[in-house]
Amino acid sequence: MIGIGAGDPDQLTLQAVRALRDTDVFFVLDKGEVKSDLTQLRRDLLDAHVPEGTYRVVEARDPERDRKAGGSAYSPAVGDWRSARAGIYERMITEELGEEQTGAFLVWGDPALYDSTLGILEEVLGRGRVTFAYDVIPGISSVSALVARHRTGLNRVARPVQITTGRRLAEGFPEGVDDVVVMLDAHQTFRQYADQDIDIYWGAYIGTPDEILDSGPIAEAAPRIERLRAEARERKGWIMDTYLLRRNPREV
Ligand SMILES: C[S@@+](CC[C@H](N)C(=O)[O-])C[C@H]1O[C@@H](n2cnc3c(N)ncnc32)[C@H](O)[C@@H]1O
Repeated sequence: MIGIGAGDPDQLTLQAVRALRDTDVFFVLDKGEVKSDLTQLRRDLLDAHVPEGTYRVVEARDPERDRKAGGSAYSPAVGDWRSARAGIYERMITEELGEEQTGAFLVWGDPALYDSTLGILEEVLGRGRVTFAYDVIPGISSVSALVARHRTGLNRVARPVQITTGRRLAEGFPEGVDDVVVMLDAHQTFRQYADQDIDIYWGAYIGTPDEILDSGPIAEAAPRIERLRAEARERKGWIMDTYLLRRNPREV
């Protein structure tokens, strides 16, 4: 399992590049509308680091999207999404990989952060129909890339930082922490806090040629980000964004 960074081919670690070059078959699962852009980014990344003709790419469609469509060689049957994915992985590994060959799953950012590939591979092993050894190569997460692009840190001196989702943030600003990174937010939940003394550091498509960054006091930045986000979403048909909310110390 190879973490491939947030999108910039220069963000791969030397360890990841070595692992890419040792790979015979790349397994790729893509989601509907983001498919062509992300597939192209992944192709650019392989072109940049691996000699042509030394590997194969095996693609499958994501169960979420495929459930109704059917027909694909690796479309899932029934069951929940994770099991459906485990079934696809199992079949790809069994049917596409020789006994002595090495396969790789490329994971955006870092496999340890809001990614299910690790759990799915464990489920595949747990089923016991196929056995394999695997390593996890860490990657530069979109969180690291975000703060680097904004030339700031994740935490303030000796203070904690929390990474959470848009859905959790909608339930309230986390207790006991003033620096909060928000991922997987389809609803621009930061708007909920626009009347507070908070700075936002926002980035979309970080590390890719479409990258957009904005930052500032949330009251001023929120409307700008809303506009930028809507325009980008309209133009590209999909968006991936991450942001850091930094609450300023309250007067006592
Ligand atoms: C399923 S999580 C995967 C996170 C990934 N493992 C990582 O380490 O960045 C998807 C979320 O990551 C964030 N994300 C991933 N790539 C991004 C990018 N290039 N720019 C901005 N946000 C990104 C978004 O918040 C998105 O909703």
